[in-house]
Amino acid sequence: MAENIDLFASPAAGDAPQDAATEVQALRAQLLQWAHEYYVQDAPSVPDGEYDRVYQRLEALEKAHPELHSADSPTQRVIGAILDGLTPVRHAVPMLSIRTETDNEASGAQAFDARIRKELGLDATDPAVEYVAEPKFDGLAMNLRYEAGRLVQATTRGDGEVGEDVTHNIRTIRQIPLQLRPDAGAPPVLEVRGEVYMRRDAFDALNRKQEAAGGKTFVNPRNAAAGAVRQLDSSITAQRPLSFFAYGVGEVTPAAQGGMQWDSHYAMLMQLRAWGFPVAPQVCVAKGAEELVAFHQRMGAERANLGYEIDGVVYKVNSRALQQELGFVSREPRWAVAHKYPAQEMVTRLEGIDVQVGRTGKLTPVARLAPVFVGGVTVTNATLSNVFDIRKKGVRVGDDVIVRRAGDVIPEVAGRVPGERAQYVPNFAMPRQCPVCGSDVVREKGEANHRCTGGLFCVAQRKEAILHYAHRRAMDIEGLGDKLVDQLVDSGVIRSLPDLYKLGIATLSGLDRMAEKSAQNVLAALESSKKTSLARFLLGLGIRHVGESTAKDLAKHFGVMDAIMDASVEDLLQVNDVGPVVANSLHTFFAQPHNREVVEQLRAAGVHWDEAVPAEKPAQILAGMTVVLTGTLPTMGRDEAKDLLEAAGAKVSGSVSKKTHYLVAGADAGSKLTKAQELGVTVLDEAAMLRLLQNGAP
Ligand code: IVH
Repeated sequence: MAENIDLFASPAAGDAPQDAATEVQALRAQLLQWAHEYYVQDAPSVPDGEYDRVYQRLEALEKAHPELHSADSPTQRVIGAILDGLTPVRHAVPMLSIRTETDNEASGAQAFDARIRKELGLDATDPAVEYVAEPKFDGLAMNLRYEAGRLVQATTRGDGEVGEDVTHNIRTIRQIPLQLRPDAGAPPVLEVRGEVYMRRDAFDALNRKQEAAGGKTFVNPRNAAAGAVRQLDSSITAQRPLSFFAYGVGEVTPAAQGGMQWDSHYAMLMQLRAWGFPVAPQVCVAKGAEELVAFHQRMGAERANLGYEIDGVVYKVNSRALQQELGFVSREPRWAVAHKYPAQEMVTRLEGIDVQVGRTGKLTPVARLAPVFVGGVTVTNATLSNVFDIRKKGVRVGDDVIVRRAGDVIPEVAGRVPGERAQYVPNFAMPRQCPVCGSDVVREKGEANHRCTGGLFCVAQRKEAILHYAHRRAMDIEGLGDKLVDQLVDSGVIRSLPDLYKLGIATLSGLDRMAEKSAQNVLAALESSKKTSLARFLLGLGIRHVGESTAKDLAKHFGVMDAIMDASVEDLLQVNDVGPVVANSLHTFFAQPHNREVVEQLRAAGVHWDEAVPAEKPAQILAGMTVVLTGTLPTMGRDEAKDLLEAAGAKVSGSVSKKTHYLVAGADAGSKLTKAQELGVTVLDEAAMLRLLQNGAP
């Protein structure tokens, strides 16, 4: 029907209201269909732009004809209502909970099937019972009430009898139809039950956003979803994208004459799907214990790769007649059970925080935990990325913390269980010395990570250091690769770089996968690496921030190794392209006695290069003098003058002070000249400056 509408037409003045009403209705139906394809079926039939265009047309029409307003319009998703509080609502049909099978193993499914068969009085000769198997979504239960096909109320589960009205927020969830799909015949009252949840990607994005805004982050998608659902301001909910899966019904009329329009749970789910609700694609009919076990295993394997979290599976007897026969025990149906997976999140005590040193020298705090069974394994350690991560999560030693292990991912401390601490516990602080080698620990400005400066000396960094040393563009030791270095370091044969030159044929050929021929090749490569250049050697030392071009600049500037090792940060800053970061890195590296020792030992092992003391600099005739330039000089550019003065050892400053020796003033000199005169600073013209450069005096 929408094809016949001119979507480009704008609502002209004088449109007969009847036409507008018809068009509005058609547009709403079209948008409803497209939104369903997009949000529920994940199969859009038109590009986003097309949807937007039609949407805007509807918006324009609704604006022009306020009398056509409808709360069900696709334009009314985000209504921005702000409530004073959530209103309690008594459920028409209580929202029951579901029994949890205590046995997490496959036998849990067998136990459930055995119980059902017993209660139904079936024996071994009777056929298998038919079940529906569903994922157990980890979100929060929701009751959606539709009257005459329109969403009128959404309520949380609450205590099962009374929940809270969260309609304003639920309307922002695009997967939840505001109106049942008209082609599917709506009952006067239909309550749909299911789970509101947050997808993992939406959760990650939300936490990143919260972090950037300095707000609080959420421990898991379920908490984030619950927080979003209970907002008083629905525009906040709208920014925290939620999703929905339907898994059941509450009140449905007409309840008389045999009740509903379906005789099995599965048929009901398919009807919900037809009405426009998302029903999980994994939902399936399973016959007997065997198929339940298979489902449990299949979902267990798929679990980590789903876009959302599930904490188990649910089995339900499919036949409504059998469900009625089985009935309820207390508040739980006998015909359904939750079969959980080992929890991915558990609470345990943070007993301490250790520090590990990685291959690049990065220090990582590691939580030492009271052993806890989580995600199917016993966990005693979990990462805490860095000090800031610890501060952000607010965890301190002795706290009860939430530990998460999802899939094969490394366990992490997600946060702390809120509550007062019995006593004051200081915040975690990084050690100042590397716990592995004792070298100084540094954290560069703007970086989150602390690093060990031990470099070559630190066992933790040894492998990386050796590979770097052997690199083609550094010492170029062919054949000294990953596998060999692993073996050499793990076996304790190589403890530091100089040990490389102590390697003999016996040791090498005794290693795994090392034929005598290749051992000889490695030894030959080591031997020829001894004759090298200062730049290659410097690069090989693996000093942070010292790459190939910096190594070359350093070699050119200083010419000899000792000068580099003894250089102050100021000296280093004189080198072409060396800034404070590189200068500090070099200075710290050579301030560690271990690193100097390694250099000495390498030299003693025969590593050598041509040292060339750079040509003596011209006599520094103006050393110690401060000169300021101002105005336009008659023959010379400002930069040229500056270069000449600096080459002669003068410091060229930008402002005049009592410490200024000379002001060189050209035409149009301004405030600097006045200031120099006030302070009694000698003022020179260009000619006098040239005499100064020549003779050391003007
Ligand atoms: S059926 C009468 N099916 O698990 C049975 N519940 O106590 C009513 N849940 O918080 C529940 N996935 O929100 C059912 N596929 C599923 C489910 C599911 C998650 C939640 C539900 C409730 C708890 C059951």
